[in-house]
Amino acid sequence: MYDYDLLVVGSANADLVVRVERRPGAGETVLGSDLAVHPGGKGANQAVAAARLGARTALLARVGDDGHGRLLLDAQRAAGVDTVGALVGGAPTGVALITVDPSGDNSIVVSPGANGRLAPADVRAAASLFQAARVVSVQLEIPLETVAEVVRSLADGSRLVLNPSPPRPLPPEVLAACDPLIVNEHEARVIAGDGLGDSPEDWATALLALGPRSVVVTLGAAGALVAERAGPRVRVPSVPVEAVDTTGAGDAFTAALAWRLGRGESLAEAARYAARVGAVAVTRAGAQESFPTAAEVAEVAAP
Ligand code: RIB
Repeated sequence: MYDYDLLVVGSANADLVVRVERRPGAGETVLGSDLAVHPGGKGANQAVAAARLGARTALLARVGDDGHGRLLLDAQRAAGVDTVGALVGGAPTGVALITVDPSGDNSIVVSPGANGRLAPADVRAAASLFQAARVVSVQLEIPLETVAEVVRSLADGSRLVLNPSPPRPLPPEVLAACDPLIVNEHEARVIAGDGLGDSPEDWATALLALGPRSVVVTLGAAGALVAERAGPRVRVPSVPVEAVDTTGAGDAFTAALAWRLGRGESLAEAARYAARVGAVAVTRAGAQESFPTAAEVAEVAAP
């Protein structure tokens, strides 16, 4: 019996968001909207997304002893996330500088701050959370050695979901634990390097050869491709929507998929559900504020 459907280990950032008519190019200055400050960070976003869907969720993250840190932890608690694993201090809270254009696309620069101080020792000290978690989800806005310690800390029978964002080459022991590795094309290219191939099916084959038990390739409006070592490649269509803000939609997709896998769904079933969650998220502004409840997802037609 697990106490948590999902343990998220990852970043928590204050998102400083400006809407712009056009995202600036190199050397360019553009004027934008008033500044909005929202709770964000890929780890914190995933935890809120899962909890809002009804998953029993815990977050292992580090924030600074400052106003942004309090904003982030308040948002977690308001969503129903267990913050017993949240650590405070060591550096200022991580910050993400985000511009969003009228099509809903964004550009993000992250200053990791306290996220960069989430250490392997913090993971070891949270052993009881790992023992209690059916699924563990992690991203790459925290140190890679901390991610490797997460892999070493998994309880027997629990499942690891990794979204390698922002992408870096990964050591074999991390890749081998992923079930699934969730990547977009850019992340796939960084991880697999040369020889990725031409089609998403080729990318999945190249990534599986590196060791993960399964792979999900997200393809934006074209949906996603799911692939397991021994199984067929399955395309999951997207849900057509008018995008307002894509910030955090990938985090909502990953959290939903991780939760549904823990409930025993197949990878393709979980990805279909996650596509509906991501579709709702892009129709609303912000990251955590945009994540739907299960009742809201139920109103979205299956892709
Ligand atoms: O995935 C979206 C997130 O990326 C934002 O909330 C921002 O904090 C960055 O981590």
